[in-house]
Amino acid sequence: MAKLELKQVAKSFGDTAVIHGLDLTVDDGEFCVFVGPSGCGKSTLLRMIAGLEECTGGQVLIDADDVTDHQPARRGIAMVFQSYALYPHMTVEENMGFGLKIAKEPGKTIAAKVATAARTLQIEHLLQRRPRDLSGGQRQRVAIGRAIVRAPRMFLFDEPLSNLDAALRVEMRVELAKIKSQLNTTVIYVTHDQVEAMTLADKIVVLRDGRVEQAGRPLDLYARPANLFVAGFIGSPKMNLLDAVTVAHSGATLSLKLQGGARVETLCPQALPQGTAVTLGIRPEHLRLTDAGQGGMDGEVLVAERLGGETYFHIRVADKSIIAKVNGDSAIGLGAMVGLQFDPAQAHLFMANGQRAC
Ligand SMILES: Nc1ncnc2c1ncn2[C@@H]1O[C@H](COP(=O)(O)OP(=O)(O)OP(=O)(O)O)[C@@H](O)[C@H]1O
Ligand SMILES: [Mg+2]
Repeated sequence: MAKLELKQVAKSFGDTAVIHGLDLTVDDGEFCVFVGPSGCGKSTLLRMIAGLEECTGGQVLIDADDVTDHQPARRGIAMVFQSYALYPHMTVEENMGFGLKIAKEPGKTIAAKVATAARTLQIEHLLQRRPRDLSGGQRQRVAIGRAIVRAPRMFLFDEPLSNLDAALRVEMRVELAKIKSQLNTTVIYVTHDQVEAMTLADKIVVLRDGRVEQAGRPLDLYARPANLFVAGFIGSPKMNLLDAVTVAHSGATLSLKLQGGARVETLCPQALPQGTAVTLGIRPEHLRLTDAGQGGMDGEVLVAERLGGETYFHIRVADKSIIAKVNGDSAIGLGAMVGLQFDPAQAHLFMANGQRAC
C-alpha cells in the first residue's frame, strides 16, 4: 500500500500544455477514479504517475519519497491497460508469472503466487490456456492477475473494461468491487463509465483540460457538485440546467423566474440581489410529472424513452428540452402537456461564473 501525492505536476508536449500544475493526494489503500472528457489528460496523468511519461514540472511522491525521476520499475506500480497486452505464445500461467521470472524469483515462489492470484480471480481452471482461447473478460482477469502477483504498492487501471460487451462489463465491475478489498492496495482507475466511477470509487477526481474540477466521495459530488461542469458531468441522464434570474428572497426561500417566464422556488440561505443571473440545476430523477397548469413549469412531451424499469421523458419547456426520469412505465404519451414539480431542497443553484451559489 502507498500514499500518492502529486505536487504541481505539469506536462507539455512541445508547446502544448496538457497538465497544468495539478495537486492531488490519494490516500493509502484508497480506490481513486479519474473521470473527465476525452483528451482531458487522464491517461497522461496515469503515465506520469507510472513513470512512463516524464513530468515537465512538479513532483510525484509515493509514501513521501520523491520518485519524480525514478524509472518505472523502481516505483513499485503495476499498470493494467485497456488492451491487455498479454503474450500470445505463453499460457495464462506463464503470462501471470512472467514479471516474477524476469525478476529471477524461484520457480516455486512464482507458482505459489500465481496460484493465489488465480484463486482470487477464479481463473484457476484457465492456467494452461493461451490468451486466444479466452473470452475478453477472462483475458482481463489474467491482465489483473499478472499485476497482482507482483504485489505492487499501487495499481493503475486505464479503462480496463471498455473493450467488453455491456453484460460482461457489468459482471467484471461487480468482480472488481468484490476483489477491491482483497487487493488491499492503492488503486487509480480511469473510466468513462458513470456507474463504474460511482460504485467503485472511494474518491472521484473530475478532470477537465488538465485541471482538477472537483475531487471527493462519489455521493458528495452527486449531491453537491462544486460547479456547473461537475454538475453536468456526474449523473446520467445529465442534470437539467436552466437559465434564471432571482426575483425575491424570503428567509431561505428564493424565487426565480426561468427563461420563458415560469416562476419556481428554490432554497438558498444566502441572500442574492434581485435580478441576479443564475443557473438552476435539477436532476431528472428529482422531477415529478403533474397535470399542466398547477403553477411552476409546464411543457410538452417530445420523446418518451421507455426502458421498462424506468421512463425518460424529454419535455420542451420554453425553448429548452428537459429530461424527467420516472420509475416504471407511464401512460403519458407524446404531445401531452404536463407540469413539472421538484422539491426545492433537491435543486442546485450556480452563479454566472459557474460556481455553486449555495
Ligand atoms: N505523445 C503526445 N504528443 C502530443 N500530444 C499528446 C501526446 N499524448 C497525448 N497528447 C495530448 O494530450 C491530451 C491528453 O491526452 P490523454 O490521452 O491523456 O487524454 P485522456 O483524458 O486519456 O483521453 P481519452 O478519454 O480519450 O483516453 C490530448 O489532447 C492528447 O492529444
Ligand atoms: Mg485515455
